[in-house]
Amino acid sequence: MSNVLYINKPSLKVARNRKDVSIIYETITNLGEHLFKDGYFFIHTYGCQANVRDEETMTGLLTNSGLERTNNVENATVIILNTCAVRENAELKLYGEIGKLKRLKKQKEKPIIIVSGCVVQQEEALELLINKYRHIDIFMGTNRIHHLLDLIKLVKKTNKRVVDVPSDDTTICEGLPVKRNEDFKAFVNITYGCDKFCTYCIVPYTRGKERSRKKEEILKECKTLVKQGYQEITLLGQNVNAYGLDLNDGSNFASLLEEVAKLSIPRLRFLTSHPWNFTNELIDVMSRYSNIMKYLHLPFQAGNNEVLQRMGRRYTKESYLELVNKIRAKMPSIALSTDIIVGFPGETNTQFEDTLDVVRKVGFSSAFTFIYSPRIGTPAARFKDETSKEEKSERFNLLKEEVEKVTEAYAQKLVGTIQKVLVDGFSKKDPNKLSGYTECNKLVHFNGGIDLVGKIVDVKIDYSKVYSLQGKIVE
Ligand code: SAH
Ligand code: SF4
Ligand code: F3S
Repeated sequence: MSNVLYINKPSLKVARNRKDVSIIYETITNLGEHLFKDGYFFIHTYGCQANVRDEETMTGLLTNSGLERTNNVENATVIILNTCAVRENAELKLYGEIGKLKRLKKQKEKPIIIVSGCVVQQEEALELLINKYRHIDIFMGTNRIHHLLDLIKLVKKTNKRVVDVPSDDTTICEGLPVKRNEDFKAFVNITYGCDKFCTYCIVPYTRGKERSRKKEEILKECKTLVKQGYQEITLLGQNVNAYGLDLNDGSNFASLLEEVAKLSIPRLRFLTSHPWNFTNELIDVMSRYSNIMKYLHLPFQAGNNEVLQRMGRRYTKESYLELVNKIRAKMPSIALSTDIIVGFPGETNTQFEDTLDVVRKVGFSSAFTFIYSPRIGTPAARFKDETSKEEKSERFNLLKEEVEKVTEAYAQKLVGTIQKVLVDGFSKKDPNKLSGYTECNKLVHFNGGIDLVGKIVDVKIDYSKVYSLQGKIVE
Protein backbone atom coordinates (compact mmCIF):
# COMPACT_ATOMS: atom_id res chain seq x y z
CA MET A 1 0.00 0.00 0.00
CA SER A 2 2.74 2.43 -0.96
CA ASN A 3 0.30 5.13 -1.90
CA VAL A 4 -0.98 5.43 1.67
CA LEU A 5 0.78 7.91 3.90
CA TYR A 6 0.31 7.11 7.59
CA ILE A 7 0.67 10.10 9.91
CA ASN A 8 -1.17 8.43 12.80
CA LYS A 9 -2.92 5.09 13.13
CA PRO A 10 -5.67 4.32 15.63
CA SER A 11 -5.36 1.61 18.25
CA LEU A 12 -8.19 0.45 20.49
CA LYS A 13 -5.56 -0.84 22.88
CA VAL A 14 -3.89 2.56 23.17
CA ALA A 15 -7.32 4.17 23.61
CA ARG A 16 -8.24 1.67 26.33
CA ASN A 17 -4.98 1.88 28.27
CA ARG A 18 -4.60 5.62 28.43
CA LYS A 19 -3.56 6.88 31.82
CA ASP A 20 -3.50 10.33 33.34
CA VAL A 21 -2.10 12.03 30.28
CA SER A 22 -1.81 15.79 30.22
CA ILE A 23 -4.01 17.92 28.03
CA ILE A 24 -2.39 20.05 25.36
CA TYR A 25 -4.08 23.42 24.89
CA GLU A 26 -3.35 24.91 21.50
CA THR A 27 -4.59 28.18 20.05
CA ILE A 28 -4.64 28.56 16.30
CA THR A 29 -3.95 32.07 15.13
CA ASN A 30 -2.80 31.48 11.57
CA LEU A 31 -5.71 30.11 9.60
CA GLY A 32 -3.68 29.61 6.46
CA GLU A 33 -3.77 31.01 2.98
CA HIS A 34 -6.57 30.54 0.49
CA LEU A 35 -6.11 26.98 -0.71
CA PHE A 36 -8.71 27.20 -3.45
CA LYS A 37 -9.51 29.95 -5.99
CA ASP A 38 -13.16 28.92 -6.03
CA GLY A 39 -15.35 25.80 -5.91
CA TYR A 40 -17.59 23.97 -3.50
CA PHE A 41 -17.47 21.56 -0.59
CA PHE A 42 -20.06 19.02 0.53
CA ILE A 43 -20.40 17.66 4.08
CA HIS A 44 -22.74 14.99 5.32
CA THR A 45 -22.81 14.43 9.07
CA TYR A 46 -24.10 11.35 10.87
CA GLY A 47 -24.41 10.84 14.63
CA CYS A 48 -24.57 13.14 17.60
CA GLN A 49 -24.25 16.85 18.34
CA ALA A 50 -20.49 16.46 18.83
CA ASN A 51 -20.25 15.58 15.15
CA VAL A 52 -22.59 18.43 14.20
CA ARG A 53 -20.36 20.89 16.05
CA ASP A 54 -17.30 19.41 14.31
CA GLU A 55 -19.06 19.90 10.99
CA GLU A 56 -19.45 23.59 11.83
CA THR A 57 -15.71 23.92 12.43
CA MET A 58 -14.88 22.07 9.21
CA THR A 59 -17.32 24.37 7.39
CA GLY A 60 -15.54 27.36 8.93
CA LEU A 61 -12.12 26.08 7.83
CA LEU A 62 -13.22 25.21 4.28
CA THR A 63 -15.00 28.55 3.85
CA ASN A 64 -11.74 30.26 4.86
CA SER A 65 -9.90 28.16 2.29
CA GLY A 66 -11.94 29.68 -0.54
CA LEU A 67 -14.70 27.09 -1.04
CA GLU A 68 -18.45 27.52 -0.72
CA ARG A 69 -20.84 24.97 0.74
CA THR A 70 -23.08 23.00 -1.62
CA ASN A 71 -25.80 20.42 -1.09
CA ASN A 72 -25.02 18.93 -4.47
CA VAL A 73 -22.25 16.37 -4.13
CA GLU A 74 -21.72 16.32 -7.92
CA ASN A 75 -20.34 19.90 -7.85
CA ALA A 76 -17.99 19.50 -4.94
CA THR A 77 -14.19 19.81 -5.00
CA VAL A 78 -14.03 18.51 -1.42
CA ILE A 79 -16.44 15.90 -0.07
CA ILE A 80 -16.59 14.98 3.62
CA LEU A 81 -18.53 12.16 5.22
CA ASN A 82 -18.48 12.83 8.97
CA THR A 83 -19.30 9.44 10.46
CA CYS A 84 -20.83 7.80 13.54
CA ALA A 85 -19.92 4.39 14.96
CA VAL A 86 -22.27 4.13 17.91
CA ARG A 87 -24.37 1.32 16.41
CA GLU A 88 -23.85 -1.06 13.52
CA ASN A 89 -26.73 0.20 11.36
CA ALA A 90 -25.25 3.72 11.29
CA GLU A 91 -22.03 2.25 9.98
CA LEU A 92 -23.69 0.04 7.37
CA LYS A 93 -25.56 3.01 5.88
CA LEU A 94 -22.26 4.81 5.57
CA TYR A 95 -20.62 2.09 3.45
CA GLY A 96 -23.43 2.41 0.91
CA GLU A 97 -22.93 6.17 0.74
CA ILE A 98 -19.17 5.86 0.29
CA GLY A 99 -19.64 3.31 -2.48
CA LYS A 100 -21.83 5.76 -4.39
CA LEU A 101 -19.07 8.38 -4.46
CA LYS A 102 -16.71 6.22 -6.50
CA ARG A 103 -18.09 7.32 -9.86
CA LEU A 104 -17.22 10.96 -9.05
CA LYS A 105 -13.55 10.04 -9.31
CA LYS A 106 -14.06 9.34 -13.03
CA GLN A 107 -14.74 13.04 -13.65
CA LYS A 108 -12.04 15.24 -15.15
CA GLU A 109 -11.90 17.33 -11.97
CA LYS A 110 -11.58 14.64 -9.31
CA PRO A 111 -12.92 15.63 -5.89
CA ILE A 112 -10.93 15.06 -2.72
CA ILE A 113 -12.95 12.59 -0.62
CA ILE A 114 -12.55 12.66 3.15
CA VAL A 115 -13.95 10.35 5.82
CA SER A 116 -13.90 11.90 9.29
CA GLY A 117 -15.69 11.16 12.56
CA CYS A 118 -15.94 8.10 14.77
CA VAL A 119 -15.91 5.24 12.23
CA VAL A 120 -12.28 5.75 11.19
CA GLN A 121 -11.14 5.65 14.83
CA GLN A 122 -11.84 1.90 14.83
CA GLU A 123 -8.93 -0.21 13.57
CA GLU A 124 -10.99 -2.79 11.69
CA ALA A 125 -13.36 -0.33 10.07
CA LEU A 126 -10.44 1.86 9.01
CA GLU A 127 -8.61 -1.06 7.43
CA LEU A 128 -11.73 -2.04 5.50
CA LEU A 129 -12.21 1.52 4.29
CA ILE A 130 -8.58 1.84 3.20
CA ASN A 131 -8.56 -1.47 1.34
CA LYS A 132 -12.02 -1.57 -0.14
CA TYR A 133 -12.78 2.04 -0.91
CA ARG A 134 -9.74 3.27 -2.74
CA HIS A 135 -11.42 6.45 -3.81
CA ILE A 136 -11.16 7.87 -0.27
CA ASP A 137 -8.23 10.31 -0.07
CA ILE A 138 -8.16 11.35 3.58
CA PHE A 139 -8.99 9.49 6.79
CA MET A 140 -9.15 12.08 9.54
CA GLY A 141 -9.59 11.32 13.25
CA THR A 142 -12.06 13.04 15.54
CA ASN A 143 -9.32 15.05 17.26
CA ARG A 144 -7.58 16.16 14.04
CA ILE A 145 -10.09 18.58 12.62
CA HIS A 146 -7.67 21.47 13.07
CA HIS A 147 -5.40 19.69 10.54
CA LEU A 148 -8.07 19.52 7.84
CA LEU A 149 -6.53 22.10 5.51
CA ASP A 150 -3.00 20.76 6.03
CA LEU A 151 -4.19 17.26 5.14
CA ILE A 152 -5.84 18.54 1.97
CA LYS A 153 -2.61 20.34 1.05
CA LEU A 154 -0.64 17.16 1.65
CA VAL A 155 -2.88 15.14 -0.67
CA LYS A 156 -2.60 17.77 -3.37
CA LYS A 157 1.18 17.85 -3.02
CA THR A 158 1.97 14.13 -2.74
CA ASN A 159 -0.97 12.59 -4.56
CA LYS A 160 -1.10 10.01 -1.80
CA ARG A 161 -3.96 8.86 0.40
CA VAL A 162 -3.44 10.14 3.93
CA VAL A 163 -4.34 8.57 7.29
CA ASP A 164 -4.25 10.85 10.35
CA VAL A 165 -6.15 9.01 13.08
CA PRO A 166 -4.39 8.93 16.45
CA SER A 167 -6.03 7.32 19.49
CA ASP A 168 -4.00 9.26 22.04
CA ASP A 169 -4.42 12.87 20.97
CA THR A 170 -5.28 15.08 23.94
CA THR A 171 -5.21 18.43 22.18
CA ILE A 172 -7.85 21.03 22.82
CA CYS A 173 -7.71 23.47 19.98
CA GLU A 174 -9.04 27.01 20.36
CA GLY A 175 -9.38 29.81 17.86
CA LEU A 176 -10.68 27.70 14.97
CA PRO A 177 -13.14 29.39 12.64
CA VAL A 178 -16.76 28.28 12.84
CA LYS A 179 -19.66 28.62 10.46
CA ARG A 180 -22.72 27.60 12.42
CA ASN A 181 -25.59 25.71 10.83
CA GLU A 182 -28.16 27.92 12.54
CA ASP A 183 -28.43 31.65 13.16
CA PHE A 184 -30.11 31.61 16.55
CA LYS A 185 -29.37 28.23 18.18
CA ALA A 186 -25.79 27.19 18.91
CA PHE A 187 -23.82 24.28 20.32
CA VAL A 188 -20.83 25.07 22.54
CA ASN A 189 -18.39 22.29 23.45
CA ILE A 190 -17.43 22.18 27.10
CA THR A 191 -15.77 18.77 27.27
CA TYR A 192 -14.37 16.44 24.66
CA GLY A 193 -14.03 12.65 24.90
CA CYS A 194 -15.37 10.34 27.58
CA ASP A 195 -13.77 8.38 30.41
CA LYS A 196 -16.84 6.50 31.59
CA PHE A 197 -16.21 3.39 29.47
CA CYS A 198 -19.74 2.00 29.73
CA THR A 199 -19.12 -1.56 28.57
CA TYR A 200 -21.31 -1.37 25.42
CA CYS A 201 -20.06 1.98 24.17
CA ILE A 202 -17.46 2.83 21.54
CA VAL A 203 -17.39 6.58 22.24
CA PRO A 204 -14.52 6.60 24.80
CA TYR A 205 -12.38 4.89 22.15
CA THR A 206 -13.41 7.10 19.24
CA ARG A 207 -13.42 10.47 21.01
CA GLY A 208 -10.52 9.89 23.35
CA LYS A 209 -9.65 11.09 26.80
CA GLU A 210 -12.23 13.18 28.66
CA ARG A 211 -10.97 16.76 28.77
CA SER A 212 -12.43 20.14 29.60
CA ARG A 213 -12.12 23.38 27.73
CA LYS A 214 -10.92 26.27 29.83
CA LYS A 215 -13.73 28.27 31.36
CA GLU A 216 -12.55 31.56 29.85
CA GLU A 217 -12.72 30.07 26.35
CA ILE A 218 -16.25 28.74 26.89
CA LEU A 219 -17.46 32.06 28.30
CA LYS A 220 -15.79 33.94 25.44
CA GLU A 221 -17.63 31.81 22.87
CA CYS A 222 -20.95 32.20 24.73
CA LYS A 223 -20.53 35.98 25.06
CA THR A 224 -19.95 36.27 21.32
CA LEU A 225 -23.13 34.27 20.68
CA VAL A 226 -25.16 36.51 22.99
CA LYS A 227 -23.77 39.58 21.21
CA GLN A 228 -24.67 38.07 17.84
CA GLY A 229 -28.28 37.73 19.01
CA TYR A 230 -28.39 33.97 19.52
CA GLN A 231 -31.47 32.83 21.44
CA GLU A 232 -30.34 29.41 22.60
CA ILE A 233 -27.07 27.80 23.65
CA THR A 234 -26.63 24.08 24.28
CA LEU A 235 -23.49 23.18 26.23
CA LEU A 236 -22.09 19.92 24.88
CA GLY A 237 -20.17 17.04 26.36
CA GLN A 238 -20.53 13.25 26.38
CA ASN A 239 -20.94 13.70 30.12
CA VAL A 240 -21.25 17.36 31.06
CA ASN A 241 -21.18 16.58 34.80
CA ALA A 242 -17.51 15.72 34.43
CA TYR A 243 -16.71 19.29 33.36
CA GLY A 244 -13.74 20.77 35.19
CA LEU A 245 -12.68 17.66 37.10
CA ASP A 246 -9.50 17.47 35.00
CA LEU A 247 -8.68 21.16 35.35
CA ASN A 248 -7.71 20.88 39.02
CA ASP A 249 -8.71 24.46 39.72
CA GLY A 250 -11.96 23.83 41.53
CA SER A 251 -14.15 24.31 38.43
CA ASN A 252 -17.21 22.17 38.09
CA PHE A 253 -20.22 21.97 35.81
CA ALA A 254 -22.70 23.60 38.19
CA SER A 255 -20.61 26.77 38.51
CA LEU A 256 -19.86 26.88 34.78
CA LEU A 257 -23.59 26.57 34.03
CA GLU A 258 -24.33 29.39 36.44
CA GLU A 259 -21.75 31.68 34.82
CA VAL A 260 -23.17 31.00 31.36
CA ALA A 261 -26.73 31.56 32.63
CA LYS A 262 -25.63 34.97 33.94
CA LEU A 263 -24.71 36.04 30.40
CA SER A 264 -28.46 36.34 29.79
CA ILE A 265 -28.82 34.03 26.84
CA PRO A 266 -32.62 33.58 26.58
CA ARG A 267 -32.40 29.77 26.55
CA LEU A 268 -29.68 27.57 28.00
CA ARG A 269 -29.57 23.79 27.67
CA PHE A 270 -26.93 21.09 28.12
CA LEU A 271 -26.28 17.56 26.85
CA THR A 272 -25.64 14.85 28.13
CA SER A 273 -25.84 14.25 31.85
CA HIS A 274 -24.76 10.95 33.31
CA PRO A 275 -26.89 10.12 36.37
CA TRP A 276 -23.75 9.20 38.30
CA ASN A 277 -22.18 12.51 39.24
CA PHE A 278 -25.25 14.70 39.06
CA THR A 279 -24.76 17.01 42.04
CA ASN A 280 -27.20 18.81 44.35
CA GLU A 281 -25.39 22.01 43.42
CA LEU A 282 -26.33 21.40 39.77
CA ILE A 283 -30.00 20.87 40.69
CA ASP A 284 -29.85 24.07 42.70
CA VAL A 285 -28.36 26.13 39.84
CA MET A 286 -30.90 24.71 37.36
CA SER A 287 -33.77 25.65 39.61
CA ARG A 288 -32.55 29.19 40.28
CA TYR A 289 -32.17 30.46 36.70
CA SER A 290 -35.26 30.88 34.58
CA ASN A 291 -33.17 30.89 31.38
CA ILE A 292 -31.90 27.35 32.12
CA MET A 293 -34.57 25.27 30.43
CA LYS A 294 -36.53 22.96 32.67
CA TYR A 295 -35.70 20.03 30.47
CA LEU A 296 -33.14 17.33 31.17
CA HIS A 297 -31.84 14.44 29.10
CA LEU A 298 -30.90 11.80 31.64
CA PRO A 299 -30.16 8.42 30.02
CA PHE A 300 -30.88 5.42 32.24
CA GLN A 301 -30.13 2.70 29.62
CA ALA A 302 -31.63 -0.19 31.63
CA GLY A 303 -33.76 -0.67 34.73
CA ASN A 304 -32.25 -3.81 36.20
CA ASN A 305 -29.40 -3.49 38.70
CA GLU A 306 -27.48 -6.52 37.53
CA VAL A 307 -27.68 -5.32 33.91
CA LEU A 308 -26.68 -1.80 34.96
CA GLN A 309 -23.70 -3.20 36.78
CA ARG A 310 -22.57 -5.19 33.75
CA MET A 311 -23.07 -2.06 31.63
CA GLY A 312 -20.68 -0.27 34.00
CA ARG A 313 -23.18 2.51 34.64
CA ARG A 314 -22.34 3.05 38.35
CA TYR A 315 -25.92 3.63 39.59
CA THR A 316 -28.89 1.46 40.49
CA LYS A 317 -32.54 1.57 39.52
CA GLU A 318 -33.29 2.89 43.02
CA SER A 319 -30.64 5.62 42.95
CA TYR A 320 -31.79 6.72 39.47
CA LEU A 321 -35.41 7.03 40.68
CA GLU A 322 -34.21 8.81 43.79
CA LEU A 323 -32.29 11.31 41.66
CA VAL A 324 -35.41 11.91 39.54
CA ASN A 325 -37.41 12.56 42.72
CA LYS A 326 -34.78 14.95 44.01
CA ILE A 327 -34.79 16.86 40.72
CA ARG A 328 -38.58 17.00 40.63
CA ALA A 329 -38.81 18.12 44.25
CA LYS A 330 -36.96 21.32 43.21
CA MET A 331 -38.39 21.60 39.69
CA PRO A 332 -41.83 19.98 39.63
CA SER A 333 -42.54 20.83 36.01
CA ILE A 334 -39.23 19.62 34.57
CA ALA A 335 -39.43 17.46 31.43
CA LEU A 336 -37.19 14.41 31.46
CA SER A 337 -36.02 12.51 28.42
CA THR A 338 -33.80 9.46 28.25
CA ASP A 339 -31.90 6.82 26.27
CA ILE A 340 -32.70 3.13 26.68
CA ILE A 341 -30.96 0.01 25.39
CA VAL A 342 -32.81 -3.32 25.08
CA GLY A 343 -31.23 -6.71 24.59
CA PHE A 344 -27.95 -6.07 26.38
CA PRO A 345 -26.05 -9.41 26.49
CA GLY A 346 -27.58 -11.69 29.09
CA GLU A 347 -30.62 -9.47 29.77
CA THR A 348 -33.54 -11.74 30.71
CA ASN A 349 -37.22 -11.05 30.19
CA THR A 350 -37.64 -10.44 33.91
CA GLN A 351 -34.74 -8.00 33.92
CA PHE A 352 -36.27 -6.21 30.95
CA GLU A 353 -39.44 -5.71 33.04
CA ASP A 354 -37.40 -3.41 35.29
CA THR A 355 -36.75 -1.18 32.26
CA LEU A 356 -40.49 -0.93 31.57
CA ASP A 357 -41.04 -0.18 35.24
CA VAL A 358 -38.65 2.80 35.16
CA VAL A 359 -40.37 4.12 32.01
CA ARG A 360 -43.74 3.97 33.78
CA LYS A 361 -42.50 5.40 37.05
CA VAL A 362 -40.65 8.39 35.59
CA GLY A 363 -43.09 9.29 32.80
CA PHE A 364 -40.56 10.66 30.31
CA SER A 365 -41.45 13.44 27.89
CA SER A 366 -39.52 11.53 25.22
CA ALA A 367 -37.12 8.61 24.95
CA PHE A 368 -34.62 7.31 22.42
CA THR A 369 -34.73 3.53 22.31
CA PHE A 370 -32.08 1.25 20.84
CA ILE A 371 -31.49 -2.45 20.38
CA TYR A 372 -28.05 -3.32 21.74
CA SER A 373 -25.45 -3.37 18.98
CA PRO A 374 -22.09 -5.08 19.67
CA ARG A 375 -19.10 -2.81 19.00
CA ILE A 376 -15.76 -4.49 18.38
CA GLY A 377 -13.24 -3.65 21.09
CA THR A 378 -15.78 -2.91 23.82
CA PRO A 379 -16.03 -5.39 26.74
CA ALA A 380 -19.73 -6.16 26.17
CA ALA A 381 -18.99 -7.42 22.65
CA ARG A 382 -17.30 -10.39 24.34
CA PHE A 383 -20.17 -11.07 26.79
CA LYS A 384 -22.28 -14.17 26.19
CA ASP A 385 -25.48 -13.21 24.38
CA GLU A 386 -28.03 -15.99 23.98
CA THR A 387 -31.15 -13.91 23.40
CA SER A 388 -32.44 -14.31 19.86
CA LYS A 389 -32.92 -11.39 17.49
CA GLU A 390 -36.65 -12.05 17.47
CA GLU A 391 -36.87 -11.88 21.23
CA LYS A 392 -34.91 -8.64 21.25
CA SER A 393 -37.21 -7.04 18.73
CA GLU A 394 -40.21 -8.23 20.71
CA ARG A 395 -38.82 -6.47 23.78
CA PHE A 396 -38.04 -3.44 21.67
CA ASN A 397 -41.65 -3.24 20.46
CA LEU A 398 -42.99 -3.60 23.98
CA LEU A 399 -40.69 -0.81 25.08
CA LYS A 400 -41.78 1.42 22.20
CA GLU A 401 -45.41 0.91 23.17
CA GLU A 402 -44.70 1.85 26.76
CA VAL A 403 -42.64 4.87 25.73
CA GLU A 404 -45.44 6.01 23.43
CA LYS A 405 -47.93 5.77 26.27
CA VAL A 406 -45.90 7.90 28.65
CA THR A 407 -44.84 10.46 26.05
CA GLU A 408 -48.44 10.79 24.86
CA ALA A 409 -49.56 11.29 28.46
CA TYR A 410 -46.90 13.98 28.87
CA ALA A 411 -47.92 15.72 25.63
CA GLN A 412 -51.62 15.57 26.61
CA LYS A 413 -50.83 17.55 29.74
CA LEU A 414 -49.60 20.39 27.55
CA VAL A 415 -52.88 20.65 25.63
CA GLY A 416 -54.64 23.88 26.59
CA THR A 417 -51.48 25.47 28.03
CA ILE A 418 -49.52 28.37 26.57
CA GLN A 419 -45.93 27.44 25.73
CA LYS A 420 -42.96 29.59 24.80
CA VAL A 421 -41.70 28.39 21.43
CA LEU A 422 -38.45 29.35 19.68
CA VAL A 423 -39.44 29.47 16.00
CA ASP A 424 -37.11 27.41 13.80
CA GLY A 425 -38.71 28.05 10.41
CA PHE A 426 -41.24 26.43 8.15
CA SER A 427 -42.06 22.87 9.10
CA LYS A 428 -40.44 20.09 7.07
CA LYS A 429 -43.68 18.10 7.17
CA ASP A 430 -46.10 20.93 6.40
CA PRO A 431 -44.42 23.84 4.58
CA ASN A 432 -47.43 26.08 5.27
CA LYS A 433 -46.80 25.96 8.99
CA LEU A 434 -44.05 27.21 11.25
CA SER A 435 -42.38 24.90 13.73
CA GLY A 436 -40.23 25.26 16.79
CA TYR A 437 -39.47 23.83 20.20
CA THR A 438 -41.01 24.55 23.60
CA GLU A 439 -38.82 25.10 26.64
CA CYS A 440 -39.46 21.43 27.48
CA ASN A 441 -38.14 20.49 24.02
CA LYS A 442 -41.40 19.44 22.37
CA LEU A 443 -41.88 20.17 18.67
CA VAL A 444 -44.86 22.43 17.91
CA HIS A 445 -46.50 23.30 14.55
CA PHE A 446 -48.53 26.49 14.12
CA ASN A 447 -49.51 29.13 11.57
CA GLY A 448 -47.39 32.26 11.26
CA GLY A 449 -45.18 34.41 9.07
CA ILE A 450 -41.50 34.17 8.20
CA ASP A 451 -40.78 37.29 10.29
CA LEU A 452 -41.18 35.16 13.42
CA VAL A 453 -38.26 32.85 12.62
CA GLY A 454 -35.62 33.08 15.35
CA LYS A 455 -38.05 34.66 17.81
CA ILE A 456 -39.63 33.26 20.96
CA VAL A 457 -43.43 33.37 20.73
CA ASP A 458 -46.34 32.25 22.90
CA VAL A 459 -48.27 29.35 21.41
CA LYS A 460 -51.48 27.89 22.81
CA ILE A 461 -51.40 24.11 22.38
CA ASP A 462 -54.56 22.75 20.72
CA TYR A 463 -53.78 19.07 20.45
CA SER A 464 -50.97 16.53 20.55
CA LYS A 465 -49.82 13.89 18.08
CA VAL A 466 -47.37 12.00 20.38
CA TYR A 467 -44.19 13.26 18.68
CA SER A 468 -45.41 16.79 17.99
CA LEU A 469 -47.97 19.34 19.09
CA GLN A 470 -50.27 21.67 17.15
CA GLY A 471 -51.11 25.15 18.35
CA LYS A 472 -51.96 28.78 17.65
CA ILE A 473 -49.94 31.88 18.33
CA VAL A 474 -51.40 34.07 21.07
CA GLU A 475 -50.86 37.81 20.84
N1 SAH B 1 -22.73 10.30 26.23
C1 SAH B 1 -24.08 10.07 26.12
C2 SAH B 1 -24.56 9.28 24.93
C3 SAH B 1 -23.68 8.73 23.94
S1 SAH B 1 -24.28 7.63 22.78
C4 SAH B 1 -24.54 9.40 27.37
O1 SAH B 1 -23.80 8.77 28.05
O2 SAH B 1 -25.71 9.50 27.63
C5 SAH B 1 -26.02 7.86 22.74
C6 SAH B 1 -26.79 6.66 23.15
O3 SAH B 1 -26.55 5.58 22.27
C7 SAH B 1 -26.46 6.10 24.52
O4 SAH B 1 -27.07 6.79 25.54
C8 SAH B 1 -26.96 4.68 24.41
O5 SAH B 1 -28.32 4.58 24.78
C9 SAH B 1 -26.84 4.37 22.93
N2 SAH B 1 -25.77 3.41 22.66
C10 SAH B 1 -24.45 3.56 22.89
N3 SAH B 1 -23.79 2.44 22.54
C11 SAH B 1 -24.71 1.56 22.09
C12 SAH B 1 -24.65 0.23 21.60
N4 SAH B 1 -23.50 -0.43 21.52
N5 SAH B 1 -25.81 -0.36 21.21
C13 SAH B 1 -26.99 0.29 21.30
N6 SAH B 1 -27.10 1.54 21.75
C14 SAH B 1 -25.98 2.18 22.15
FE1 SF4 C 1 -20.74 6.08 26.07
FE2 SF4 C 1 -21.15 5.85 28.66
FE3 SF4 C 1 -19.46 7.70 27.75
FE4 SF4 C 1 -22.06 7.98 27.34
S1 SF4 C 1 -21.02 7.98 29.33
S2 SF4 C 1 -20.44 8.27 25.83
S3 SF4 C 1 -22.77 5.87 27.05
S4 SF4 C 1 -19.20 5.50 27.61
FE1 F3S D 1 -21.62 8.61 17.02
FE2 F3S D 1 -19.23 9.38 17.67
FE3 F3S D 1 -21.31 10.79 18.44
S1 F3S D 1 -19.96 7.31 17.66
S2 F3S D 1 -22.88 9.25 18.68
S3 F3S D 1 -20.65 10.49 16.36
S4 F3S D 1 -19.46 10.46 19.58
